[in-house]
Amino acid sequence: MRPIPERYRVPAVVLHWTMALLLTGLVVFGLYMTSLPFSPQRLKLYNWHKWAGITALALASVRLAWRLAHPAPPLPASVEAAMRGWQRRAHGTVHAALYGLFFLIPLLGWSYSSATGIPVVVFGVLPLPDLVPIDKALAGSLKQAHHLAAYALVALSALHGGAALKHHFIDHDGLLGRMWFASR
Ligand code: HEM
Ligand code: HEM
Repeated sequence: MRPIPERYRVPAVVLHWTMALLLTGLVVFGLYMTSLPFSPQRLKLYNWHKWAGITALALASVRLAWRLAHPAPPLPASVEAAMRGWQRRAHGTVHAALYGLFFLIPLLGWSYSSATGIPVVVFGVLPLPDLVPIDKALAGSLKQAHHLAAYALVALSALHGGAALKHHFIDHDGLLGRMWFASR
């Protein structure tokens, strides 16, 4: 058995996997709802997407606060030595970019809703302030930016998840275990 390297703590692990599932669901759901013809049903799904997206934004805030108070465990020396220079740089850069997208995507979605003149009322009870004034041209740009940022998230998280699985199944270096619960 290889020694288990220093790991992320339980709240970081719970937030990582909860957000990975929630954001994957939001992308799939977002693409599905926008493919539907106009109907009251589509409007209802738009609201569910907005509520789940605002929940993701709240989780991102909790996660960032936790992360600032608890720095990531350093890579084990053996893993770091086996990585090429660009891989070490990509490791931190991709994580930072993912954190950026956790905020950018929902804020663009929220701003888009404001620009179209449809305020966000979370779970039908908590009205959020409008982030931008009603503006048709701005709404078009924000919609496009929300869409592109969501695609960037898909690309980066696929790269990230693929790299993590390569560490686990090809390198067998115990890195995946850092983002799971301790078995003892
Ligand atoms: C991390 C959170 C979020 C993710 C990953 C996400 C992802 C997506 C995706 C993939 C689409 C389909 C894009 C397209 O094909 O045009 C979409 C559409 C949409 N999203 Fe989000 N979204 C998130 C948060 C939000 C939030 C917080 C709001 C508003 C409060 C929002 C409002 C919308 C709206 C209104 C659309 C429909 C745009 C259209 O009519 O084409 N989203 N979202
Ligand atoms: C197959 C799916 C995934 C696997 C196997 C995986 C695995 C991991 C592992 C092992 C780490 C810790 C890396 C280290 O030890 O330095 C990590 C960190 C991270 N993952 Fe994932 N992940 C997956 C999907 C995702 C997705 C979909 C997202 C974004 C939506 C994501 C966002 C992050 C972020 C932001 C970090 C950095 C955490 C921090 O330092 O606070 N992951 N992931």
